[in-house]
Amino acid sequence: MRAETSVPINEVIATRRSPRSFDSSHILAEADLRAGLEAARWAPSAFNGQPWRFFTGLRGDSVFSEILSSLGEFNQLWAKNSSALILVASTVKKADGTDHAEYLFDCGLAVGQMVHELHDRGLVTHQMAGYSKELARTALGISDDLVPVVVIAVGKQDAAEKLPEALAAREVAPRERIPLDKLVIKGL
Ligand SMILES: Cc1cc2nc3c(=O)[nH]c(=O)nc-3n(C[C@H](O)[C@H](O)[C@H](O)COP(=O)(O)O)c2cc1C
Repeated sequence: MRAETSVPINEVIATRRSPRSFDSSHILAEADLRAGLEAARWAPSAFNGQPWRFFTGLRGDSVFSEILSSLGEFNQLWAKNSSALILVASTVKKADGTDHAEYLFDCGLAVGQMVHELHDRGLVTHQMAGYSKELARTALGISDDLVPVVVIAVGKQDAAEKLPEALAAREVAPRERIPLDKLVIKGL
């Protein structure tokens, strides 16, 4: 469902959404996964620091299971049907030992580019903060120099009715946002 935007915007942005009904028979093409990561790679970052790092699992492989095991119960319920799970982690120190002060901001931009690239390829994505960083660190063997940032489920959208009733209703609800005139504090 297209977002009701106050002025026309890029179709990829207007139609992206975060569904939970994933087609459990869909297999993600390596070219699509690679393109999602490549789009993230080309994100801008403070001082071109590029702090983002990725752990990618395809449904059925060990990395997928490791990331899935770190998700909260609610997220596991639906994310288990996704075709791929990507954990984004970040370096927090630059090579010269100084801080990547804006690492979360940088990773957010990279993920923003990734999800729009994947959406443009006919796929859907769903970002999750509902996971245990400690469990993810242990399960994936994430080194101490990296901080887990977010998990992203990627796959093919399936019918809303395949979800439990409460989730199915959320799946088809209109997307809502704070109106622009409440977001712009000064100007416009
Ligand atoms: C950083 C981040 C963390 C999120 N964590 C979760 C999560 O743990 N579980 C979940 O079901 N959705 C999660 N979401 C999805 C948001 O609820 C969703 O993006 C928001 O409601 C807007 O919906 P839309 O993406 O369809 O426009 C997360 C989104 C972001 C960006």
